[in-house]
Amino acid sequence: MDSNTHQTPLQQVVIFTDELATQGGWHGEQLKLAFAACGVSSTFASLKDCLLDFSELKPVIRIPQYEGVPQAAFVRGIAGGSMQQITTRLNVLHLLKRLGTFVYNDAHAIERTVDKAMTSFLLLQAGIPTPPTWVCESRQHAHQIIQQHLNHHQQMVIKPLFGSQGQGVRLLNSSIPLPLPMDSFVDGVFYLQAFVEATHDYRVFVMSREAKLAMRRTGDNWLHNVALGAKCERIVDHDVLDIATQAAIALDMAYCGVDVIRHKTGELQVLEINSIPAWRGLQSVCDVNVAELLVKDVLHQFNRTTFSA
Ligand SMILES: Nc1ncnc2c1ncn2[C@@H]1O[C@H](COP(=O)(O)OP(=O)(O)O)[C@@H](O)[C@H]1O
Ligand SMILES: [Mg+2]
Repeated sequence: MDSNTHQTPLQQVVIFTDELATQGGWHGEQLKLAFAACGVSSTFASLKDCLLDFSELKPVIRIPQYEGVPQAAFVRGIAGGSMQQITTRLNVLHLLKRLGTFVYNDAHAIERTVDKAMTSFLLLQAGIPTPPTWVCESRQHAHQIIQQHLNHHQQMVIKPLFGSQGQGVRLLNSSIPLPLPMDSFVDGVFYLQAFVEATHDYRVFVMSREAKLAMRRTGDNWLHNVALGAKCERIVDHDVLDIATQAAIALDMAYCGVDVIRHKTGELQVLEINSIPAWRGLQSVCDVNVAELLVKDVLHQFNRTTFSA
């Protein structure tokens, strides 16, 4: 581990955001205030502006407005881009961790969850209930699976593998003409899931393997994303908190936002895990300051990895 990083209490943090034009936006501002209240100064930077400098004897990651290797980095956003651009942005996080930076969430955790197929696999492997899911590139396979479900009057959901905020998530029912209009539905990969009929779903914030806050989200239709206008209500249902905690542990997340839905049989199922969750909706129904909880957790995990070594 590099000598200039994990030796002293946390004093400075880099907040990676793709909202530099607005000083990190609402979430960035909340984090900056919460870090400042703990005596930690923060610098906003975009992963796409970093320079990997491998021209000297030791590798250097150059972060705009920041000198040296940061003690900690909070990942609030990764701008979308080509496969190569995203790989390079994640590499900044991978390499910072190797240089001794405490990265919250680290690149491996982001990779495990940004890819919905990997999440489904890890949940299933860990025995955590999640809706039946199929992932393939073959249009023929996809159509067979969809047709079989529709023949049994079972609806399906198709999602972008790397999507978020409900964008591109579509319901497949008998009104959908097959073959699917491939290009407008998917980007070369079919992520198909059994549809769970529900009037709402849940979002749970888990930090350090503990479910801290949760809300019920009720959308205008079957999509219950806050970004699409879902109504939020705070909940404390233990079964919802429990399954979210198990999911966070199974995916080995420093912190995360877990989406949970209740099947009509009563069984709870995990839909997905978010490694860069927004919390504006959650904050609107909570007395406790969410950014302060996150910052406390960063300090806790930073100190644990720093001083227990
Ligand atoms: N299998 C499903 N059955 C019923 N509703 C679903 C299913 N999958 C997703 N949804 C609805 O769509 C929303 C978005 O899906 P999700 O998997 O969380 O992707 P995103 O990353 O876009 O939030 C969920 O919050 C839920 O309301
Ligand atoms: Mg979601």
